[in-house]
Amino acid sequence: MSRSSESPAAYPATRLRRTRQAPWIRRLVRETTLQPSDLVLPLFLVEGDSLREPVGTLPRVDRLSIDLAVETAAQAANLGIPAIALFPAVESALKTEDGAEAWNPDSLVCRAVRAIKAAVPDIGVICDVALDPYTSHGHDGLLRGGKVLNDETVEVLVKQALTLATAGCDIVAPSDMMDGRVGVIRAALEPRGFADTLILSYAAKYASCFYGPFRDAVGSSRALGGADKSTYQMDPANAAEALREVELDIVEGADMVMVKPGMPYLDVIHYLSHSYDVPVFAYQVSGEYAMLSLGADNGLFDRTAAFMESLLAFKRAGARGIFTYAAIDVATALTEPS
Ligand code: PBG
Repeated sequence: MSRSSESPAAYPATRLRRTRQAPWIRRLVRETTLQPSDLVLPLFLVEGDSLREPVGTLPRVDRLSIDLAVETAAQAANLGIPAIALFPAVESALKTEDGAEAWNPDSLVCRAVRAIKAAVPDIGVICDVALDPYTSHGHDGLLRGGKVLNDETVEVLVKQALTLATAGCDIVAPSDMMDGRVGVIRAALEPRGFADTLILSYAAKYASCFYGPFRDAVGSSRALGGADKSTYQMDPANAAEALREVELDIVEGADMVMVKPGMPYLDVIHYLSHSYDVPVFAYQVSGEYAMLSLGADNGLFDRTAAFMESLLAFKRAGARGIFTYAAIDVATALTEPS
């Protein structure tokens, strides 16, 4: 029945509680499901050996040395999580004005990619393309006279993307929000034997305060010193503009696009996923994760229930998959017999 042609039968012929009366019928009519295959686990890397370093502002999240990151990747794969996303916490001695460590083939993230792909070949490895973990000023691009340069940044992002693809990364994920970078990266990958390297574009990435704990984790918050990224990340007030961002990235060769943050932007996820056929991903960012974790730790609600409900909401809005720091806990809960 289409909504416009006929009006629904009235009570008591219609009782919507009939399909809610027992678990079996609720399961049968359920519109959306959450599975381990919907999740991507972000991992923070640190130099060292058997090192697990808590990130103060992200409860239960640690920076891991490569050997422990390999173990965690194996655990994620066993739980049915299809991919992980790597974020290096770079030593401050390696941070420079131009972020040159970003295209060092022996950087922490490149060594981690090689180790993880060798030990856990079946898990997809995603790497950020952006300069912020590597620059002394904490911006995602090259800075000159207080301005983040676009075209000059794109040139070095290409070097970073090629370095990551050469290390064996499956998906490069430009999260920098420079104009035109997806097309230039695609054009550079294609003739160099990386035709199968995927591009997940952070297309609708907003200038958000909810990235705070992430910036602590990778050590860019101190470098930024209160500066914001609103000359390149999107204005939280805009949704139509997200359509333009995504359209351009699809034309330039993005295989998948991202909306970020997630929960405050469910309308944007819905809008994009109903406007384009490209898979739309969402990132439950560090601030969202921290809020839910701290709420649960303070007895406001159950932790697992809070994550399940929030992640299901991303799926309902239209996300094909979700990046979440709770991926291991949620996948574990989903695979336990209920
Ligand atoms: C950097 C980047 C950020 C995040 C992912 N990649 C932070 C930023 O743009 O400042 C945020 C992720 C999170 O908050 O969990 N390009």
